[in-house]
Amino acid sequence: MTHGGDWASLDVQTRSQQDLLDLSSSISPYGPGPKARALWPSLVDRLHRYPDWRKEQLTGALANHLGIEQDSVLVTAGAMEAIDLVIRAFLPQDVWVEVPAFSEYEARASVYGIGVKTWQHPNGPGREPGLWFLANPANPTGRMLTHEECRQYVRGPTDFQKITVIDEAFIEFVQSWHERSFAQEAAHSDYLVVMGSLTKYYGLAGLRIGFLVAHPRIIRKISRHTTPWHVSLVAQEMALASLADQDYFDGARIRLEKERARLITMLEPFGKIDETSETNYLLFYPSISVDDLIRGLKKQGILIRDARNFKGLTSEAVRIAVKKPKDTTRLMHALEEIYST
Ligand SMILES: Cc1ncc(COP(=O)(O)O)c(C=O)c1O
Repeated sequence: MTHGGDWASLDVQTRSQQDLLDLSSSISPYGPGPKARALWPSLVDRLHRYPDWRKEQLTGALANHLGIEQDSVLVTAGAMEAIDLVIRAFLPQDVWVEVPAFSEYEARASVYGIGVKTWQHPNGPGREPGLWFLANPANPTGRMLTHEECRQYVRGPTDFQKITVIDEAFIEFVQSWHERSFAQEAAHSDYLVVMGSLTKYYGLAGLRIGFLVAHPRIIRKISRHTTPWHVSLVAQEMALASLADQDYFDGARIRLEKERARLITMLEPFGKIDETSETNYLLFYPSISVDDLIRGLKKQGILIRDARNFKGLTSEAVRIAVKKPKDTTRLMHALEEIYST
């Protein structure tokens, strides 16, 4: 298994570096927000309680945030649990994945002995039965499909045997996310499920918090596969406080968008950038070997994501997260040094 942000796999020396800069996982450097931070110390006095197993308050807040009814939302322990639950609840004959993609759709399908087939944009998916996963924004490119492109993928009720699952884990980093999200459509659909994450945009990766949106009938079917208290009290409370901090996070989104543009300009001398990204990471094809680049940056306490194990990428690439201006500057200095030797 390879994922970004893999701190535990670092050698002790690297891990203990005070100033380690993690650009391998695309978590907002502006999270947790001020409301969540203010709440944090008081949570320790509530740890003796079980969490609300119905997750009522957070479900309501999420429904409100997405503009849908509560019974179309299932709060999960990260989008990761959502992926597992959907596959487990439907146990389809096949799982289809738009590549290149996050590896866990395939990994979870294989746990249940389900075959995985892939397709690649712009060759749209077919009409075969099964669960069809696509991420919007895509990982690792950050590309957003237009509504029309997405619509081609999400076919109507005649394809009832085919359920499309849109992974919108990074969508809130996109300015117009509310109009571009398929959550409202999924809430009434027999053939569409949307999953989301609160770990990236709100900076809560350590807490595991995400959600699924679907027709209430589908939500009930999937809920049967959850265990009681699967989402901790701390995760629920921190997510609630974060959702109440929209003005702060709107500001963070604007800063990250600006920084993405700056990162693109600064990376130009060092290789080729996939500029389709509308989110907080970039796919980058360095003009030196990926091994040399990763090794050189690690020596300087900077981690980036090796993207070579993403199926469907034709040349060697890395994925770099967009963080604060000082982080981009530090990366540039490190690259100058590596490329000059
Ligand atoms: C596309 C995609 N979906 C889902 C996830 C899992 O997100 P979470 O942290 O909410 O479990 C990730 C994690 O990196 C991801 O890249």
